[in-house]
Amino acid sequence: MSIVGEAFIFERTGHYVRNRTVLAAMTNKQSLQNGILSDDEIKWLTRRARDGFGIITTAATHVSRDGQGWEGEFGIFDDFHIPGLSDLANNIKQNGAISIAQIFHAGMRAPQKLTGLQPISASKNRCDESYNKYSREASEKDIIRLINDFKNAALRCFEAGFDGIEIHGAHGYLISQFLGSETNRRSDKWGGKIKNRSKFLIEIIRSIKLNVPKDFIIGIRISPEIHKIGIDLHDSITLSKILCDEGIDFLHLSCWDSFSRSKCEPEDPRFLTEWFTSTIDNLPPIICTGGIWDIHDVQSVFAQGADFVGVARAGIAHPDWASKITEEGYKPQKPPFSTSHLRKADLSQIFIDYMKSWKGFVKD
Ligand SMILES: Cc1cc2nc3c(=O)[nH]c(=O)nc-3n(C[C@H](O)[C@H](O)[C@H](O)COP(=O)(O)O)c2cc1C
Repeated sequence: MSIVGEAFIFERTGHYVRNRTVLAAMTNKQSLQNGILSDDEIKWLTRRARDGFGIITTAATHVSRDGQGWEGEFGIFDDFHIPGLSDLANNIKQNGAISIAQIFHAGMRAPQKLTGLQPISASKNRCDESYNKYSREASEKDIIRLINDFKNAALRCFEAGFDGIEIHGAHGYLISQFLGSETNRRSDKWGGKIKNRSKFLIEIIRSIKLNVPKDFIIGIRISPEIHKIGIDLHDSITLSKILCDEGIDFLHLSCWDSFSRSKCEPEDPRFLTEWFTSTIDNLPPIICTGGIWDIHDVQSVFAQGADFVGVARAGIAHPDWASKITEEGYKPQKPPFSTSHLRKADLSQIFIDYMKSWKGFVKD
């Protein structure tokens, strides 16, 4: 028997979650100019709340104008975003799911041609998104402004009625760029060993915590390993211990392949999630996402010590994945999917076209 259908209560905030499934954040390019949420974006997430997911995470949404990573990404950098955000949060909650907004800044991956500004990062890094091929190193003043932008974004989420936020520290965006030893070569208090490289994230968490009510969920998503920017497993474990001490409500491990073993430790090949669950006491609830489709995958992830199972692509193709996964013998179809299948799953043509860039997902 799997615990996937069991309810969960967040200890600090008291939120009740009806099962252990999470729709992971998914950018889909459906939003309007200026980052206002479109009806299509609200529709596809509402469907997944209605069809049974326990937690619905929004796509990454940029906290500052200069943090936008893609065209059609929804924004959270101004109060004029709040009405759209309220519609989304209300729809998710009315359908029985917990609503979490993923807040982020793309850093040196925010294209200058989109923002009009030279991309900013922890250090001056080689960067294709910049007209002069380099990012700008954030000054002390920039860092204070960025922390403030994250805090204001979180406050907007609260005002809009979201149950909480996921701070996007994964996948190589601004927070990861501060965490990575290759992208953060600073010699001041924001750089150096992992303790200092994590200071940017920690100050964001503290600033948010000081300003939102106590029952607002604050979770963090990290990538355990991104070798090309200098994030390794040992540092990620140290970071997670620091995050535990800060009192976060969940830690979301973005594994891409939840069944791969860490390349850092060939002589002790544990699953990525196991590295965290077996070496850290007092962990917050763990969400593990990456490559999960069927009940065997789900059971394996719980056996690794996760508390929640996250899916992205399975949730695009199967809005009712979270309800069906508890049924015996459920075997969700895997990619590729036809356009008509995806339309029936409430994806707009823009989203379907975007999914064509994910190799093998959409049938020709
Ligand atoms: C279309 C698409 C968009 C994504 N956008 C985001 C995003 O905005 N933020 C994020 O943290 N991860 C994003 N991801 C990564 C997913 O959340 C997830 O970690 C990854 O797809 C692996 O899970 P899966 O194997 O269940 O698809 C995206 C994935 C997909 C397929």
